[in-house]
Amino acid sequence: MLSITPVKFENDKLMILDQTLLPGRERYLELASGEDVWYAIKKLKVRGAPAIGVVAAYGLYIVCRRLKPKEYDDFIDQIKRTSEYLSSSRPTAVNLSWALNRMEKKIRSCESELRYLSGSEMMARADEIMFAEAEAIRTEDEEACRAMGEYGLSLLKPGMGILTHCNAGALATAKYGTCLAPIHLGQEKGYDFKVFADETRPLLQGARLTAWELSKAGVDVTLICDNMASIVMKNGWIDAVLVGCDRMAANGDGANKIGTSAVAILAKEYGIPFYMYVPSSTIDLNTPTGADIPIELRDGAEISNMWYEKPMAPAGVKTYNPSFDVTDAKYITAVITEKGIVYPPYTENLAKLFS
Ligand code: MRU
Repeated sequence: MLSITPVKFENDKLMILDQTLLPGRERYLELASGEDVWYAIKKLKVRGAPAIGVVAAYGLYIVCRRLKPKEYDDFIDQIKRTSEYLSSSRPTAVNLSWALNRMEKKIRSCESELRYLSGSEMMARADEIMFAEAEAIRTEDEEACRAMGEYGLSLLKPGMGILTHCNAGALATAKYGTCLAPIHLGQEKGYDFKVFADETRPLLQGARLTAWELSKAGVDVTLICDNMASIVMKNGWIDAVLVGCDRMAANGDGANKIGTSAVAILAKEYGIPFYMYVPSSTIDLNTPTGADIPIELRDGAEISNMWYEKPMAPAGVKTYNPSFDVTDAKYITAVITEKGIVYPPYTENLAKLFS
């Protein structure tokens, strides 16, 4: 059974598996302050939309339990400011603001109970409420991943060849993963999938994380460079493409790791089904279309220098390093959620299930 836990709260400490050290080292890192949480998300020490949401929820909790507000309004004000700060670490994955808003909403819903308590009594009760909410966000994500695994597996057959991009596995969630959940589940049931993992330039989540996670689980995984997706499809080795999502707009356009949309376009050309795995925490019905999704731009040194002993580009060369792209809804065969499989037309069918 798969046992990878990217975020855990143990012995009163928030711990993350530092994903920047994988696959070389498996080391947990304590996040003890809001700055630690912000930096860990920004630097992708913890990454993947659902895992970012989970760590942000616990992050807000660890910051807030140390506050010494004079009264309720002051407390809410400090929660709001901390939440805005944590939310500014990365813009694309909606799970980040979703989890922080959910924590804030929970505390606000207890106003009648909290407002009239003394400062220390209020904080003791707020501590319990916030911890319980962060735990709920984590366990609900685990359950959602498990359900997506079951729904996703119903679309696959033993022995299939599967292409995936980036890492939407256990490392990116509370447990099991989104698009890797059916692969882990299939592995337990002897499905014998042949998985092709795109390396996922420039930060190599496919090479460093997916290849590691699937090998650890005993899955047959072959690493390819991103520009090899077309040849493996043409060779007839791919029966389905499974990817995760960072934010799905109301019309079914889905932002995911840079390069995902190219894979979707190829899949359409070769007649291969393209499945996007999207838990409800990643569906943003307030964002009408993919054009409204903010796309994170990252440091160009990730393209020109990182991973190489010497820079592999002329000093000072211009770079463009968007971390995500949007796959148009028309390329997505189906959206796998924890509430079921959604087919086009997405505007109507997502709203039916999630509004
Ligand atoms: O930049 P990252 O590594 O956080 O990007 C992650 C992805 O694009 C994942 O596919 C997505 O967050 C879904 S994770 C279940």
